[in-house]
Amino acid sequence: MAIREIRKDGDEILAKKSKEVEVIDDKIKQLAQDMLDTMYKSDGIGLAACQVGMLKRMIVYDISYIDEEGKKEGHVLINPKITSRSKDMVEVEEGCLSFPDVYKNVLRHEKITVEYTDLDGKKKKINAKDMEAIVLQHEIDHLDGIVFLDRYKEQN
Ligand code: NI
Repeated sequence: MAIREIRKDGDEILAKKSKEVEVIDDKIKQLAQDMLDTMYKSDGIGLAACQVGMLKRMIVYDISYIDEEGKKEGHVLINPKITSRSKDMVEVEEGCLSFPDVYKNVLRHEKITVEYTDLDGKKKKINAKDMEAIVLQHEIDHLDGIVFLDRYKEQN
């Protein structure tokens, strides 16, 4: 178990675009585990690799964490891509581990489809809605250097 330092507001890495993961080697697997450990330690529900200083298109999330013992439904998505978005939008108050104590209402698509590669190199697809869809949109935005405050500003 290794906890990595979370990059905070003002760190320019948060505005950078991450690069595709080409090979899923032991370093990538270790990074995925460290990202999960770091997310759980910080009581987060999602984390992108750039938030721990790695400009790689990788995210982790776990929306089951609220359930005390069940901290183990962590998902690791490599090179995730949103391939469809509902017209319906939802507005929810979001926060981010890189912006402690900042919460803003952001509009997101209610449903999305995400295609990605898992840690075994298999191509997978998630049809997500509600909270899962919101977390995925927030984390995938990080891979393009977009944070929730950018979305808030463009919507207000
Ligand atoms: Ni975030």
